Amino acid sequence: MAATVGIIGLGYVGLPLAVAFAQEGCDVIGVDVDSRKVEAIAAGESYIEDVPSEVLAKYSERIHATTRYARLAKADAVLICVPTPLSPNREPDLGPLVEATRALAEVLQADQLVVLESTTYPGTTRERVAPLLEESGLAAGRDFSLAFSPERVDPGRTDYTLRNTPKVIAGLTESCAERAEALYGVVCDTLVRVSSPEAAELAKLLENIFRSVNIALVNELAMLTDRMGIDVWEVVEAAATKPYGFMRFEPGPGMGGHCLPVDPFYLSWRAREFDVATEFIELAGKVNQQMPYHCVAKVQRALNDAGLSVKGARVAVLGVSYKPRVGDLRESPALKIIALLRDLGAELSYHDPHVPALTELGLTSRPLEQVVADSDLVLIVTAHPGVDHGLVAKRARLVVDLRGVTRSSAAANVVRL
Ligand SMILES: NC(=O)c1ccc[n+]([C@@H]2O[C@H](COP(=O)([O-])OP(=O)(O)OC[C@H]3O[C@@H](n4cnc5c(N)ncnc54)[C@H](O)[C@@H]3O)[C@@H](O)[C@H]2O)c1
Repeated sequence: MAATVGIIGLGYVGLPLAVAFAQEGCDVIGVDVDSRKVEAIAAGESYIEDVPSEVLAKYSERIHATTRYARLAKADAVLICVPTPLSPNREPDLGPLVEATRALAEVLQADQLVVLESTTYPGTTRERVAPLLEESGLAAGRDFSLAFSPERVDPGRTDYTLRNTPKVIAGLTESCAERAEALYGVVCDTLVRVSSPEAAELAKLLENIFRSVNIALVNELAMLTDRMGIDVWEVVEAAATKPYGFMRFEPGPGMGGHCLPVDPFYLSWRAREFDVATEFIELAGKVNQQMPYHCVAKVQRALNDAGLSVKGARVAVLGVSYKPRVGDLRESPALKIIALLRDLGAELSYHDPHVPALTELGLTSRPLEQVVADSDLVLIVTAHPGVDHGLVAKRARLVVDLRGVTRSSAAANVVRL
């Protein structure tokens, strides 16, 4: 099937999808409001680490990036991959989705398939997207097809890709689902059909809430073991030897990224309409938000034990992105930790091979050897592979390790979460 696929929103989700369809011989029309992204794609320059520029350049003849929605009139299917953030008072902000859907409605054609991929609360596809698209005069499920299929991409991951990660799909009608299955069958090996868009929307939220709650559980344990003088990493390691009924989650400095700190609150907001308080979600958010403060207190204690105060201490942060292998800074706990330490008067520097500069903080990544040599304390916030943390533990005056990567070191200068 060599369809023409339209993709709205060419970010972490949209650009890899565009390349995947182009690799299978489809023509792709990518629309983004950010003209810099459109220009970068035209120049074959990728801004997403999972998409090497060579690969993008190789398929550039098939990927037509534009800021103009009118081009989508030629597509057989249009996939919506715009952000679904929270508003400042932590409610779903469907602004980008509404804007994109309205713009699509103006150029929508009979027989097109529209699929929403953005993470959102149950009911969005049917109650928000369908009516906006129907302002075109075409009826959803009759004149055009509408489906929801949540993206599961895990940036930086290579073992599970779009191709071998099962994809959940639901249509507004049976024929909508069949059309969506035919489309995704081009780029995914396993499709999982569910009966309604609401079930698919909620399945995606369950996946993220599951992670958020389990990370919070082990983070709470880390705060307790800190007081009890027990090594939380040893406890997790031991529990994980159980071959059934246990799934390993690691403690850390808090949750980052566009998904886990945000998506669960789409459900708690929606649940309020049904008189249900989603307490696990709220509690997990609360515990995870406390972690940067707990980590800063650990730094403070480590410096104190060495006869130093935070004020004036030179602290080097290793890894500032929210997770290993990527340069994504969205909601990164490292940023919160840096801000808290600065408020206490510390002098900050950092090393991150994926993040050349933290422009808003006036910092640039410095070579590893330099930051280790020039600091009173090295704080491991995100452990990128390729950074020799063993050597850091040997060379640094003091190390606070929030990721358990120095576990083999029993040196007195190393303190772990
Ligand atoms: N990043 C992930 O790992 C991930 C994983 C699974 C699901 N998701 C979900 O996918 C959705 C997109 O996430 P992302 O990480 O790709 O976001 P992103 O910010 O990287 O990309 C979104 C793109 O949409 C563009 N955009 C915004 N408004 C637009 C509009 N009106 N018209 C056209 N383009 C517009 C932005 O300029 C941006 O390039 C979100 O709902 C997110 O929750 C993300």
